[in-house]
Amino acid sequence: MVGKGKGFGKTILFGEHFVVYGLEGIPCALGQITTAEVEIISSGKGYELIDNRPATPGYKEEKTGEYVALISRVLDYMQVKDKLQITLGGDLYCASGVGASAACAAAIARAINEEYKLGWNDEQINKAAFEGETAGSGTPSGIDNTAAVYGGFLLFKKNITGGANKIGVVKIKKPVEIVLGNSGKTALTKEVVGDVKKLKDSNPSEVQKIFDEYVALEEEAKKALQNYDLKKLGELMNKNHELLQKITVSCKELDELVEAARSAGALGAKLTGTGRGGMMIALTPGKELQEKVAKAIEAKGYAATKTVIG
Ligand code: MEV
Repeated sequence: MVGKGKGFGKTILFGEHFVVYGLEGIPCALGQITTAEVEIISSGKGYELIDNRPATPGYKEEKTGEYVALISRVLDYMQVKDKLQITLGGDLYCASGVGASAACAAAIARAINEEYKLGWNDEQINKAAFEGETAGSGTPSGIDNTAAVYGGFLLFKKNITGGANKIGVVKIKKPVEIVLGNSGKTALTKEVVGDVKKLKDSNPSEVQKIFDEYVALEEEAKKALQNYDLKKLGELMNKNHELLQKITVSCKELDELVEAARSAGALGAKLTGTGRGGMMIALTPGKELQEKVAKAIEAKGYAATKTVIG
């Protein structure tokens, strides 16, 4: 028998890095998914991997160690005692910033659940995917695996005292077009999250001010989403990008992508995910604006993906 599973890619509209410290974030699943198929090949532990996922050049090579740890952690957590063949696929273009590792962990956990008829619910699958995520992020907030498992538009707040995280559903009036710009650079989440911690430890009061600004901004963002005020939402995304620059997680390529998107008329643009590479998200309601922004990004030599959120 072959067990099958899937995990959603994600984008973070508000809150990357801040969520690690228990502040609320707003992630949204993408339409693109990673799929996993698992099959028992023999007794004894371990696995053979066939990775057919499309990816940014260099992504898989740079992340080899992380993925070995990720898969092993999911298998251990789910107490798999056979050797498996794991085949990954799907249309999620793997790059930093789209939750590719979380989508992979969720897909594998779901496939194992099916293969062994474990009957795990989403909450249990999410715990297994989180376990996999600890391989890449060190101290993951859980935002990526939560988006990968549940899908949709969410509010996410990590419980920093160890209890259950807060997960809420966000409903918006109608889906809105976005463009993702790919910096082409792969970032290591553990490293970038670690640098933010160092910055916070060495400048506690300065960084606290940035965190406080983020809290106020995210409150406004929730209202803007509720009112479907996309102009306001875009402005807040721009401000969120500035805060991320201040905590040193942007980079030249991401800033160039943000500028290109805004100059072409995007209502707002910011890095999304880990930063220092990976992806930028631009808010571009309407097919015409979406096309224009995607072209502007491509004209600068970067790849652009057009999709919708909500
Ligand atoms: C990565 O997609 C999001 C980060 O906030 C890390 C995390 O929340 O675990 C950078």
